[in-house]
Amino acid sequence: MRITVIGGGPGGLYFALLTKKRRPDWSIDIYEQNRADDTFGFGVVFSDETLHEFLSRDRISFDRIRSQFAYWDDVAIHKQGTEMRCGGNGFAGISRMKLLNILQQRCREEGVGLHFSEPVDPAKLEARFGASDIIVAADGVNSRIREHFKAEFEPELSIKANCFCWMGSTRPMDEFNYFFKETEHGIICAHCYQYEPGRSTWVFEMDEACWESHGFRETDEEDSRARLEALYAEELRGHPLLLNRSHWRRFPRIFCRNWSHGNMVLLGDAKASAHFSIGSGTKLAMECAISLSDAVVEKAERDVKAAFAAYDAERRTPCQVIQHNADVSLAWFEHMNRSWDMDPEQFSMVVMCRAKSITYDNLVVRDPSYVEKVDTAYYERLFRETGYDYRDSRPTPMFTRFKLRGMEIENRVVMSPMAQYSADDGGNLTDWHFVHYTSHALGGAGLVFTEMTCPSPDARITWGCTGLWTDAHEAQWKHIVDFVHEHSQAKMCMQLGHAGRKGSTQLGWEKADWPIEEKARNWPLHSASPIPYLEGVSATPREIDRAGMERIEQDFVQAVERAERAGFDMCELHCAHGYLMASFLSPLTNERTDEYGGSIENRLRYPLEVFRAMRAVWPARKPMSVRISATDWKDGGISEAETFAIAEALAEAGCDLIDVSAGQTVADQKPVYGRMFQVQFAEAIRNVPKMAVMAVGAITEPGQVNTILHTRRADLVALGRPHMWNPYFTHQAAAWYDARNQHWPKQYLSGRDQAYREFQKRREQEIELRRKARPRPSEFDLPSPNHARAAE
Ligand SMILES: Cc1cc2nc3c(=O)[nH]c(=O)nc-3n(C[C@H](O)[C@H](O)[C@H](O)COP(=O)(O)OP(=O)(O)OC[C@H]3O[C@@H](n4cnc5c(N)ncnc54)[C@H](O)[C@@H]3O)c2cc1C
Ligand SMILES: Cc1cc2nc3c(=O)[nH]c(=O)nc-3n(C[C@H](O)[C@H](O)[C@H](O)COP(=O)(O)O)c2cc1C
Repeated sequence: MRITVIGGGPGGLYFALLTKKRRPDWSIDIYEQNRADDTFGFGVVFSDETLHEFLSRDRISFDRIRSQFAYWDDVAIHKQGTEMRCGGNGFAGISRMKLLNILQQRCREEGVGLHFSEPVDPAKLEARFGASDIIVAADGVNSRIREHFKAEFEPELSIKANCFCWMGSTRPMDEFNYFFKETEHGIICAHCYQYEPGRSTWVFEMDEACWESHGFRETDEEDSRARLEALYAEELRGHPLLLNRSHWRRFPRIFCRNWSHGNMVLLGDAKASAHFSIGSGTKLAMECAISLSDAVVEKAERDVKAAFAAYDAERRTPCQVIQHNADVSLAWFEHMNRSWDMDPEQFSMVVMCRAKSITYDNLVVRDPSYVEKVDTAYYERLFRETGYDYRDSRPTPMFTRFKLRGMEIENRVVMSPMAQYSADDGGNLTDWHFVHYTSHALGGAGLVFTEMTCPSPDARITWGCTGLWTDAHEAQWKHIVDFVHEHSQAKMCMQLGHAGRKGSTQLGWEKADWPIEEKARNWPLHSASPIPYLEGVSATPREIDRAGMERIEQDFVQAVERAERAGFDMCELHCAHGYLMASFLSPLTNERTDEYGGSIENRLRYPLEVFRAMRAVWPARKPMSVRISATDWKDGGISEAETFAIAEALAEAGCDLIDVSAGQTVADQKPVYGRMFQVQFAEAIRNVPKMAVMAVGAITEPGQVNTILHTRRADLVALGRPHMWNPYFTHQAAAWYDARNQHWPKQYLSGRDQAYREFQKRREQEIELRRKARPRPSEFDLPSPNHARAAE
């Protein structure tokens, strides 16, 4: 086999080394445009896990790499002169140039052909490397090969908003430092770490307005250095900043739909980039190199395409996960000003947990004393702001009380509204509903939402949806609410909604969103505009007229009066997921030209009118919330600024909390799933219009709940599907954290004591296991941080 690698970065070099090691009989050549020692950048970072992978693949390069490592354990977050330090993070830094030199040397030793100062013109690939069986395009984030074959690789490129530049310094440091600084023009963050004795990387990052106002657009490298040295004089401690192609840039976020074309395959940054703030670009490139090498060695002789397919199958999901984490981290840095009013402890938690992979429970394993400090600050703040005093009992944030108007809930866990499709044809509740709702209340959730319940028969999604338009409905709900109030501390929230154009469909477990099969059982639909939900499948709704609006508004008013009589503690108007109210809010479903269409003020008019009418009859002591879809997951959909306008208008109308969901507005949405995947939308509404919010979406662990609350991403945390398989989520979590302040029904008290014992044991064992599982520097025989310092 003849293999040509374009680009001698960590990805290309490591691929060539590993492949040649296993197949010395193959001919492998690398073409690199730069000279051997002519590289950009300062240091790169590896996590413990990546080190492990290196250890297993090429012991010789690992030994040489580790002899050059600067290892550190602490992350220190500095905010205007304060410092919060979290240990147990296990990272190593190395100079990029040394890393490349080591890999180059290993390639030479194994017999890889290295060709420096050899730029490859993608237009001449065929002419120059026609004899190659495989061409690996490892030519970095600005890959010319990827761009030349754009139609084949289909890259998605977006240039991110923040401006950054990469410098070095001689200042030694024993930890990873984030230096956040408020300047007259905005906040600047310096990401800093030592990568060899006497050398540290300094990446400066800020938003465009701050960058412009500091005049960095006009400055050259020297000028930028002088200004940053002046701004960071205290942190640099008399050390200079060093330059090496330290131009201002914006991060290009790239993901290629196709990773191979013919005998060409993309590797490293060329196919997918990951923002530097999670330090994973080199890791990704090298892990992909391992996978590509395995696939090529095992399959390429017989079938090159099969080798590329195996590489793609193995790496696509991990790349997407890392890229998603990097995106979330990057987005936080783009909005770091939104957390700037926080005290240093909370701010440090946000920085530590910004990418969502690190949670409260992870931090307990990493550094319990750090968690103790941030917990103390949390309880102190809560006491100052609300008078709730948990300074001694310390039950973790999820087991602190929360008050909205006259309603007080025992903890911050909520059962999210979930349609059960189990009512009879008249919208009447069944035994299923009684068991479903009461068991979740007994399971400990502070607040239990009903499924979307309908104020009239034609407001239903399906024939199985629950109603609240008859005396019988009212009595059935009252039966549940009374039981919940008698036997638990849970509060109950009635969610009222009208399905709009998404009505008259089959049950959730049938062909969801499709019209009812038996044609005669379908009913006419209404929506903001006459656009069917599923083109060619759903019925076209009628554009609702003023008389229709008034009729439906009256239905909502009567239903909310019934909810009050049934004893509900709270009420929610459903304005999300493309249903009737949401169809007004989203520009994708509202094409009206009257005063209910066009600007966000107009699109809000009808939902706001209905909300006001409901609020007017709902008691002032009881809270009301509104559920919105904060994004439509589609271009041209609702914008962040519009969600702020919606939240503000609703707050003015007496809404106490925004229940922040996303999507389901249009059938061709493109959601980005992942753990806690909607929480950033709640965080934005919590931090900008500063409303109380509830977050929801793929939140599955108590550690995530505590992270969300600690970092002020939400005030309440709702779980939907996890409650379907565990109504006792909250009680179990209380036992896990040994939070003793939660009510248990008296019938189950002896079970409670056992649960606390069992979960305490499990927790201790798990923390111990996770601590043991973490590789320590001694395992790698790495120099300690102090060693790096002593070598100064
Ligand atoms: C500010 C900043 C900080 C970073 N910090 C970290 C960090 O801390 N940790 C981390 O893991 N990663 C970090 N990265 C990311 C890291 O640098 C890259 O992700 C990683 O180098 C990708 O490896 P690669 O082999 O895919 O590409 P590259 O390292 O970019 O290598 C591509 C090579 O191809 C060569 N080349 C390009 N075009 C041609 C051509 N036509 N012909 C011949 N040769 C060509 C280039 O000269 C280059 O040597 C950071 C990146 C930035 C921008
Ligand atoms: C079966 C099912 C039914 C749902 N019904 C409703 C509903 O009636 N009203 C509503 O606002 N959301 C509804 N949702 C959305 C959930 O409230 C929640 O936002 C979503 O499931 C994401 O949270 P999760 O990842 O914790 O499940 C439903 C979700 C599921 C799975």
